[in-house]
Amino acid sequence: MHAIKIQEPGGPDMLVWSEVPDPEPGPGEVIVDVRASGVNRGDILQRQGHYPPPPGASPYPGLECSGTISAIADDVRGWTVGQQVCALLAGGGYAERVAVPAGQLLPVPDGVDLVDSAALPEVACTVWSNVVRLARLTAGETLLVHGGGSGIGTFAIQLGSALGATVAATARLPKHDQLRKLGAAHTIDYREQDFVEEVRQVTDSRGADVILDIIGAAYLERNLAALATGGRLMVIGMQGGRKAELDLGGLLVKRAAVAATALRPLPLAEKAEIVRGVREQVWPLIAAGRIRPIVDRRLPLTDAAEAHRLVESSEHVGKVLLTVG
Ligand SMILES: NC(=O)c1ccc[n+]([C@@H]2O[C@H](COP(=O)([O-])OP(=O)(O)OC[C@H]3O[C@@H](n4cnc5c(N)ncnc54)[C@H](OP(=O)(O)O)[C@@H]3O)[C@@H](O)[C@H]2O)c1
Repeated sequence: MHAIKIQEPGGPDMLVWSEVPDPEPGPGEVIVDVRASGVNRGDILQRQGHYPPPPGASPYPGLECSGTISAIADDVRGWTVGQQVCALLAGGGYAERVAVPAGQLLPVPDGVDLVDSAALPEVACTVWSNVVRLARLTAGETLLVHGGGSGIGTFAIQLGSALGATVAATARLPKHDQLRKLGAAHTIDYREQDFVEEVRQVTDSRGADVILDIIGAAYLERNLAALATGGRLMVIGMQGGRKAELDLGGLLVKRAAVAATALRPLPLAEKAEIVRGVREQVWPLIAAGRIRPIVDRRLPLTDAAEAHRLVESSEHVGKVLLTVG
């Protein structure tokens, strides 16, 4: 088969379409013939040499895909050859074929086409596991989503509003209209506006109950200032650095919590539990049309370098997909 290999750590041109050995299904795995793969910011970090694949994972980038099951290990039950699926991966999505632990497979949601379903597994699992499973966002609460125009952000806005929360999102101004259409009640231009002030204003000074943060250090102090009493700050990205001072006194007075999580290195059993939760709680919202995959563009997998340039420019809203065949 062919896959996109990272020749050596560096720029987009290090992504090279190469002939590589076909994957074999290990115990508990199936082989998926890939139709599409989502581009994630993590793939860019991996290409740059900052985010190596966990032990045992495919060396090729790609954290999610859609496609057709073409082989199944003897011990796998509940899936059939020829079935169309999408899947959460620890790597290897930028390829014609990939081995997937059966616990990370999802059916293509009703009403979504096979290609677009590749935009869902990584964002659905990341957002649901943080905002619902851990932070327990409930109807009537306020969710602040940083990077509302990202793959993660566009999904978080839709999930938050489908759950009955009031969603505020930060993004560059040209993205605001789209984010409002997705369900953001308030959009904040983080380049011109102070998000702490804005969140206070729209919550009668209460603050946000849950914040989904992709910036990390540069926003820590302001995120704590923007949190409501009993608020939960979920850090999933460090685009603004990893080290910052934390005012425990401020946290204590607000009885607030700070958590940081990463999906990719989780043990198989925990990933499978998250995938099960997503299938039970999120897939029905997609089938009902409350949430849809937001696809900015489809490019052929052979153009992975161009896709990375696009995602690095942040011109996109939602996901960029790489297609096979
Ligand atoms: N921990 C995990 O398990 C996990 C899993 C998946 C993703 N992530 C993280 O989630 C983040 C989003 O991933 P993605 O693939 O969806 O990325 P993406 O589509 O490439 O989006 C990155 C976003 O960052 C926004 N941004 C940059 N500077 C900002 C700032 N100062 N304030 C607010 N927003 C800012 C950009 O928005 P503008 O264009 O509006 O500037 C852009 O939409 C990444 O940091 C990624 O590493 C974590």
